[in-house]
Amino acid sequence: MTIELIPVEGLPEVGPGDDLGAMLAEPLRALGAREGDVLVVTQKIVSKAEGRVVPGTERTAWVERETARVVARRGDLLIAETRHGFVCANAGVDASNVRGGFVSLLPEDPDASAERIRTELAGRLGLGRLGVVVTDTFGRPWRIGLVNVAIGCAGLPALVDLRATTDHFGRELEATIVALADEVAAASGLVIDKASRVPAVLVRGVETAAPHGRASDLVRPADEDLFRESPLVSISARRTIRSFGAGEVPRAVLEEAVRAACTSPAPHHTRPWLFLAIDSPPAKRRYLGAMAEAWRADLEADGADEPTIARRLERSDAVLGAAPVLIVPWIRFRGSHDYPDPERSHAEQEMFLLSGGAAIQSLLLALHAQGVASCWLSSSLFCQQEARAALRMGAEWFALGTVAAGPMPEGGAPSPRPSIDLAEHLRYG
Ligand SMILES: Cc1cc2nc3c(=O)[nH]c(=O)nc-3n(C[C@H](O)[C@H](O)[C@H](O)COP(=O)(O)O)c2cc1C
Repeated sequence: MTIELIPVEGLPEVGPGDDLGAMLAEPLRALGAREGDVLVVTQKIVSKAEGRVVPGTERTAWVERETARVVARRGDLLIAETRHGFVCANAGVDASNVRGGFVSLLPEDPDASAERIRTELAGRLGLGRLGVVVTDTFGRPWRIGLVNVAIGCAGLPALVDLRATTDHFGRELEATIVALADEVAAASGLVIDKASRVPAVLVRGVETAAPHGRASDLVRPADEDLFRESPLVSISARRTIRSFGAGEVPRAVLEEAVRAACTSPAPHHTRPWLFLAIDSPPAKRRYLGAMAEAWRADLEADGADEPTIARRLERSDAVLGAAPVLIVPWIRFRGSHDYPDPERSHAEQEMFLLSGGAAIQSLLLALHAQGVASCWLSSSLFCQQEARAALRMGAEWFALGTVAAGPMPEGGAPSPRPSIDLAEHLRYG
């Protein structure tokens, strides 16, 4: 198989309202365009023809309007998801190859743009099997450098599904889906040079019998995207979840979460935390039984009646007793400084307690990042001695409640978090 990349040169400057199909027909005829060829056109000329060019002074407002979701932000750099589902710098708002003082926006519907150009050219050139790809240059996570990708596609497969076919050695392919439109786009980048006014390329030799598709087929659905959440998004997406799906929490997941927890800040460069993961039913019963007994004694001393006591114990057991794993976070004060006065001694202890809270939040976030539901309940905080005795912990350890964890429950998205009045939580001094 030989692939040819033929630059389409000599196109006049494209302006709003221009019919790109009509403008490209003659140059393509001169190049001898034939059945099976794929015409790659840059987003820039498509956007210009569609009037998607706006004054640079409105750039920030347009970036905001074109952004469906902020994926990451660092300084002036914004990586955003557009409403098409593309993830790119500044939501595709870009000043290159547009006349001074203006920026271009991505086409409203680049698949429709590709289809319009294809239909026009098919009619004018009498080519029923001409493909069209609209490309833009995107950066890529984990790799340096821009690459042309397909943002619009018509008349050729966007994806070629090779699953259930066999490789050279006869092994069945299980996961291979080739992003053909992106491969064609990337190849065209070899002749589309930003400085040399090649706004289109004819790609010859791409042969496939796969069904035609659209560039929107290349956008991975959110629920299949393992890398979707940015730290900011996942911090707010973590919720307290008190019921769990069926199954276990793999120890590797717990270990990753504890590793994350142990990166939390702590006083005097100590690592005062210990996480006791209880996943065996007898240990769980021993711990919960001891806490229930202590709680009952407290409630009885408070004068609570039996139905109230039974109801509260039951409610607690419905969460802790049903969780596949209980993680008891402990801290100790080893490494704390001695002070002669109670105020500083107390503050010293509080520093360690605070680092316990920080570590637990990191633990919860790391569980969430790995798809594990969790809630942090006070429990052992109120019965230190009993918790220590049940779990055979030495007197130096202080229990910080219990984190119940398990697989995410089916369906039932948590109710939205109440909105925050920032003025209540942030003041500038
Ligand atoms: C130290 C601590 C102890 C908590 N104890 C309990 C508890 O015993 N029972 C409970 O239902 N929620 C408990 N929570 C959960 C909170 O009260 C609150 O419902 C939760 O943090 C809010 O949900 P969200 O995490 O989805 O925003 C506790 C939270 C903290 C920080």
